[in-house]
Amino acid sequence: MTRLSAITPSGHAHIGNHLGALRRWARDGGPGDLYFVSDLHAMTVSYNPPRLRALTRELLAVLVAEGIDPARLFVQSDLVRELGALSWVLECTCSYGEAARMTQFKAKGGGTGARLGLLTYPVLMAADILLQGADSVPVGDDQTQHVELARVLARRFNSTFGEVFVVPSATTPPTAARVRDLAAPERKMSKSTRDAAGVVFVLDNPDLIRRKLSRAVTDSYDVVAYRPEKQPGVANLLEIYAACVGVSPREVEFRTYGELKTAVADAVIEELRPLREKVIELLADPAELDRIRKDGAERARDRAAHRLDSALRLAGVA
Ligand code: TYM
Repeated sequence: MTRLSAITPSGHAHIGNHLGALRRWARDGGPGDLYFVSDLHAMTVSYNPPRLRALTRELLAVLVAEGIDPARLFVQSDLVRELGALSWVLECTCSYGEAARMTQFKAKGGGTGARLGLLTYPVLMAADILLQGADSVPVGDDQTQHVELARVLARRFNSTFGEVFVVPSATTPPTAARVRDLAAPERKMSKSTRDAAGVVFVLDNPDLIRRKLSRAVTDSYDVVAYRPEKQPGVANLLEIYAACVGVSPREVEFRTYGELKTAVADAVIEELRPLREKVIELLADPAELDRIRKDGAERARDRAAHRLDSALRLAGVA
């Protein structure tokens, strides 16, 4: 089995990425898995090139620090030629309507003024998945619609031109599939949120984590109960706590919101401590990260070569 997933360097990695994705990639990973930093996807909205380069490096360090085998890692732009070619082929099999109805496109301000790259983002994501022959794509529920499109495009290509692509499926984690913003629990925690008060980054120091949690938005019910509809802020804290200590959010009992927030802060600080220390260590050794990136690029390119050749040939080009 080949599992494949990615993280976009549109900002620093946060506790939602860690609990919902990265930690699982490290724990559940098998020898055929592939994980990458999707830097090409970070170009779909306004961005700063030197910052993108630095974040790509930082996220590669985070993936290594999570304990993912470095032999399973690569950076997306190291395959820009292969992905550019396959994306074009897939774009020519995807309708405008299929791309425009993606909820993320709409949520990120998709309209006539949006960059074309924002519209075709899921097609590039399909190219990522299909180029490597992945059959399972672990993602949070924000990304399942994109994996669904990759399935549709794989089937369509195979039936129109010939069997080349593995048809992938999305797998979503059972808990912490959607960690919410601490300051605005109606929305998911996001790397690119401007106001970071409600976002706990994996590289935040313990004092900052404690401060962010102490200010987390709750409600006026004054009961610690797991009721996501009625008490989204409290439910989010219970989910984060439960994911950190390894229990179900329904089993967690605290008397007051203050007690809950202190316990969540302690659990998050302990959860992130070894990760943060390892990332700092890796960023201080540029040669090691460069080597991991170069080896990963070669392996991923080798894997992609025959599938891309077949797809181009069947499509009547190259
Ligand atoms: P990205 O960078 O938005 O998210 C990386 C992973 O973290 C999960 N995630 C969350 N999980 C729980 N709570 C949250 N608040 C939260 N926010 C994000 C995401 O579901 C994801 O698993 N387009 C993708 C990257 C990508 C990709 C791919 C993934 C590019 N090509 C091919 C799979 C296959 C993205 O931007 O993820």
